[in-house]
Amino acid sequence: MKAAVIVGARPNFMKAAPLIREFKKRRRFDWVLVHTGQHYDENMSRVFFEDLELPEPDIHLGVGSGSHAEQTAKIMIAFESVVARERPDLVVVVGDVNSTLACSLVGAKALVPVAHVEAGLRSFDLAMPEEINRMVTDILSRYCFTTSPEAETNLLREGVKPDRIFFVGNIMIDSLLFYLAKAEESRVLDELGAEPGGYVLVTLHRPSNVDESGVFAGIMEALAGLARQLPVIFPVHPRTRKTIESARGAIDIPEGLKLIEPLGYLDFVKAMRHARIVVTDSGGIQEETTVLGVPCITVRENTERPITVEIGTNVLVGPDPGRIRDEAARILAGPARAHRVPPLWDGRTAERIADILEQQFPA
Ligand code: UD1
Repeated sequence: MKAAVIVGARPNFMKAAPLIREFKKRRRFDWVLVHTGQHYDENMSRVFFEDLELPEPDIHLGVGSGSHAEQTAKIMIAFESVVARERPDLVVVVGDVNSTLACSLVGAKALVPVAHVEAGLRSFDLAMPEEINRMVTDILSRYCFTTSPEAETNLLREGVKPDRIFFVGNIMIDSLLFYLAKAEESRVLDELGAEPGGYVLVTLHRPSNVDESGVFAGIMEALAGLARQLPVIFPVHPRTRKTIESARGAIDIPEGLKLIEPLGYLDFVKAMRHARIVVTDSGGIQEETTVLGVPCITVRENTERPITVEIGTNVLVGPDPGRIRDEAARILAGPARAHRVPPLWDGRTAERIADILEQQFPA
């Protein structure tokens, strides 16, 4: 069985790595690793291949940045000839980025079954490009591999047949648990002069938070307030860097708020594990902090990962500076919030996916 495994953007790499590792162990699987090139900076892509011990991509589409239509279309055109040439039995896509959408469309139209790892997540917010990517990908996927029970409910509601849905758990947590000990060896806290348990870690890159300078300025104001109490470490995503640069000094960056380059996987896991609070608008970080038991403040009005709020460490506050400050104060004052790790977030998701695929594609 030959799979074309697709990666494109930073949050894809830690989801593909466990699957490639599992495929390598089993004689049943052959694969080509395809990198679309949606993310291309050294610290958004290359470093993840090293940290996660991913093999070099067999095929690099090199599409780079562009508008949504441009980026999606370029990936589709390039991937269509890959499918024609490589004739995979399966296209495996992960997550919800433009690369996920583009390659599932191409696979489905070429009549190659598509497997979507992390299917069924819904924020019910169509203003998020990822929500559109998730919905279209799931409708086209023969195999919807889900992370949590509510994902199945979402898929059934949209008419996905039950025999296409497989609850396998969270593959990103496979990477987190596999690399946790190695991440501990990272010197990143020393390099940043940060004390374990004594800093706030921030990531922000959602268009709704960072593309509009007024909204972004409000969030930065809240972070400035936090930075007066605890050092705030903020690895800045390229999209966010653009907003900061175009504001040219209009955004106040106080001492104590440390803007740094994006971190690699192992450094980031270490920084996340030892943070007092994580402030983020990422999807994956809501899940990783839940497993690590680190309080997470999510700067969004909704989440496609509600289980992290229901049983995990996550709270939603939206981009309102007052709510960010209040929630941080509550965390700093109070005892740690009780939390549980969701079912099947146990490091064995890739194994379950490979078992199912072996059954579905008998020798
Ligand atoms: C994408 C995903 C988002 C994911 C995020 C993680 C979509 C629709 N969005 O958003 O779901 O959470 O990745 O990072 O697929 N850029 C660089 N260097 C790079 C990559 C991007 O400078 O290596 C710049 C681009 O030129 C662009 C901006 O960053 O201006 C955004 O990149 P893009 O790939 O469009 O989407 P992200 O915001 O990264």
